[in-house]
Amino acid sequence: MDGPTPAVAVTVRDLSVRFGSTQALDAVSLSLLEGEVHGLVGENGAGKSTLGKVVGGLYQPDSGELEVFGRAVHRWDTRRAQDAGVVIIAQELCLVPALTVAENVFLGRERRTFGVLHGDLRARYRELEEICGFGLPADAPVHTLPIADQQKVEIMRALARDARVIVMDEPTSSLTADESERLHEIMRWLRERGTTVVYVTHFLDDVLANCDRVTVMRDGRVIRTAPAAQETKAGLVEAMLGEPVDMLLPDRPPAPPPDTPPVAEMHDVRGGAVRGVSLRVRPGEIVGLAGLVGSGRTEIARALFGCDPVESGEVLFRGEPVTGASPRASIARGMAMIPEDRRAQGLVLLRPVLENVTLPHLGRFSRAGVLSRGGERAAVRELVERLGVRPAALDGDVSVYSGGNQQKVLFAKWLLGRPELLILDEPTRGVDVGAKSRIYQLIVEIAAAGTGILLISSELEEVAGLSHRIHLVRGGTVIGEVPGPGASVDGLLQRLFEVEPPPATEGTP
Ligand SMILES: Nc1ncnc2c1ncn2[C@@H]1O[C@H](COP(=O)(O)OP(=O)(O)OP(=O)(O)O)[C@@H](O)[C@H]1O
Ligand SMILES: [Mg+2]
Repeated sequence: MDGPTPAVAVTVRDLSVRFGSTQALDAVSLSLLEGEVHGLVGENGAGKSTLGKVVGGLYQPDSGELEVFGRAVHRWDTRRAQDAGVVIIAQELCLVPALTVAENVFLGRERRTFGVLHGDLRARYRELEEICGFGLPADAPVHTLPIADQQKVEIMRALARDARVIVMDEPTSSLTADESERLHEIMRWLRERGTTVVYVTHFLDDVLANCDRVTVMRDGRVIRTAPAAQETKAGLVEAMLGEPVDMLLPDRPPAPPPDTPPVAEMHDVRGGAVRGVSLRVRPGEIVGLAGLVGSGRTEIARALFGCDPVESGEVLFRGEPVTGASPRASIARGMAMIPEDRRAQGLVLLRPVLENVTLPHLGRFSRAGVLSRGGERAAVRELVERLGVRPAALDGDVSVYSGGNQQKVLFAKWLLGRPELLILDEPTRGVDVGAKSRIYQLIVEIAAAGTGILLISSELEEVAGLSHRIHLVRGGTVIGEVPGPGASVDGLLQRLFEVEPPPATEGTP
């Protein structure tokens, strides 16, 4: 940053927050400048969201000082924060489900004392829409929108509040690549107007490309703040974990012999967005689905798992045609699916970890009518340790776990059933680098133990690095297959973006 020293928007000094035995923030000091995009990175549970919530007035610190635009603040809550222009878009969204998009965008706005033209909210909405280009239905109740769209409502609301400081806590975790790029544009636009953006994310490439400065946190402490231009991905990872890590993918397990009968098959399956899909997964085989967002990968998985009806074609499990498919029946048959939209379908937040993990498997632990408490605890403990869930306690409510750790609990829930077919839809989204490599290792181990895996990921290096075979998916159908070994991200992208092949001309030799 050249020119005069930019003014400081927010300063925190020696800020500490404790939850029971967890020191979520430990004497954190940091300054946020006007007109900067400030990246905040760290492992799951490092304290990023807690810091954001203190700045946004949602949490009170136990000790330490907070200064906003040059003024020490002593009493701080969301109302005061908002009046000072400080807004947080929390990881767990905070909308009124029954109100419309526009109503949510302007929620709380009426109480502002300046600059509001009451009759002009429509025009103001159009103005915001112009900036964001999200194309949301202004009059639809928010609960009818998918999570990704709800996230956009939160972003519009922050803009509508003319915030001078916006904390965005993992805002892109459920956005598509295009939408994320759009959000990055919005961040640049905000920066030009002198707004401070705090960008919390696990996508380190995005941090390096879009932030002016980056702060790394670990175990509730700030490790360092530096200009993004001086950081590298490997350097950030090392600072986050406290040790250098091997970001390489583990070796693929040996592929099953080609004549192994498949555990699951789809034959020309059609229904909804699925337009004629054939594929098979053998025991111990990792089959990747590579496609762009919206290509129908999730829909294929849902059809296989029995979430959506199959109109024609056939699904076979262990060689038997599947009839009366439903997720419940699929689980009973020995399938498991970790869905993409984990926030909506997955955890019972107010229950302990142990219960969340064992919920679908009660039958297994109560064989012969006796609930084997000891066996249950031991099995869950082992998984919790393998996945590195933190805190590793089994009895704490999942609601206070950091976003990434909730995800690991969900993983444990499905792995406990030792499924024969495991469908993974974006298994590493929102988890930190350390957990990512543990999840890769786990996928490889599960396959090596004989489970067939269908792997969907927008991170093509995962698909290329882990799969034995990769199906290329476009427009709800499989347009080709490539062997996993030797596949590259560039090669896959090229195939996926290829123009439609011309219709086969007759008469060619
Ligand atoms: N309301 C709460 N009650 C109890 N413990 C909490 C609460 N909020 C956070 N914690 C704990 O504080 C620590 C820091 O959590 P925080 O949510 O700030 O992490 P994070 O860096 O945002 O992680 P993630 O990347 O997974 O979102 C964690 O150990 C978490 O379990
Ligand atoms: Mg968080």
